[in-house]
Amino acid sequence: MKKSVRIAAMALAGIMSISLFAGCGSSNSAASGSSTASSSQAADKKIKIGLSLPTQQEERWVKDKATMEEAAKKAGVDIAVQVANMDAAKQDSQVENLISQGIDVLILAPHDAKAAASTVDKAHKAGIKVISYDRLVMGTDVDVYLSFDNVKVGELQGKWLTDNLPKGNIVWLAGAPTDNNATLFKQGAAKYLQPKIDSGDYKVVMEQAVVDWKPDNALKLMENALTANNNNVQGVLAPNDGTAGGCIQALAAQGLAGKVPITGQDSELAAAKRIVEGTQGMTVFKDTRKLGEAAVEAAIKMAKGEDPGADQKVNNEKMDVPSLLLAAEVVDKTNIDKILIDSGYLKKEDVYAK
Ligand code: BGC
Repeated sequence: MKKSVRIAAMALAGIMSISLFAGCGSSNSAASGSSTASSSQAADKKIKIGLSLPTQQEERWVKDKATMEEAAKKAGVDIAVQVANMDAAKQDSQVENLISQGIDVLILAPHDAKAAASTVDKAHKAGIKVISYDRLVMGTDVDVYLSFDNVKVGELQGKWLTDNLPKGNIVWLAGAPTDNNATLFKQGAAKYLQPKIDSGDYKVVMEQAVVDWKPDNALKLMENALTANNNNVQGVLAPNDGTAGGCIQALAAQGLAGKVPITGQDSELAAAKRIVEGTQGMTVFKDTRKLGEAAVEAAIKMAKGEDPGADQKVNNEKMDVPSLLLAAEVVDKTNIDKILIDSGYLKKEDVYAK
């Protein structure tokens, strides 16, 4: 009985501190109201997670944020969230701010994999453990890496393209050069594309990275590729749904949307709609709800000094980082309802809305 009252109070305090937190200082309001703080209260001190996200540009990051806020609330812990808007210096100073708020653990999805190394070092100097979230921080000690099998994501894209385009001129775009995931996706896709290129079945008429993963940058690249080749392009490897959207806009302007196989990733609503209407061939489903929940769970364990239970290793040019990698799957016209709608990731009425 007592216990459930305490849990309810903790959950309430969680709601309060989430809604009260707006860049202000300490939010340990649960303890500060009492003048007779006892040692048992100190032991019960609420865990506070710091969450630093790179962007909200893609829908998935909006979901990651919402999932982690919700998971923290459910677990009765505090979470302070900062979004860096694709600016490494801003992310660094936001993390400094989180450190000064007395967070116990930092969940960091870096905008710039290499620049974030010094940010991680700052957290470590303050005795704060760091979870590298979705994107790996390179070149420094990282406590845990939680992500998807990103090489596999690239393999799914490469396999789909080679299954759907036997021969032709292709545009091969990669994600932001600052994001280690972009390297992994490309590495995975290359397993399928490179043999086709070597055999002469594929000719790469453009190979470019999309700075900051911006759909607008992808649009411009695709326009250039089409102009330079008199529209003689038969396939596109787009690294995510946002960049695919930019490419499809350029294809549509030439009457080619739906005629040129093109990949994606993230299972954004806009991409799901394009798959249904036939202008995008595939996307990759990475259930960010599971990743967000796993991250909050791991953060709580780490705050308590427990092992987060990462069973794999990924090298970040400094060490083999203990890692937990979730599975990803291909979504196309044939399985979209089963994978995206039945799982509740997207709503049927939204996907099929005209
Ligand atoms: C993520 C993708 C996302 C991209 C752009 C990558 O690191 O893994 O899901 O589309 O960043 O934000």
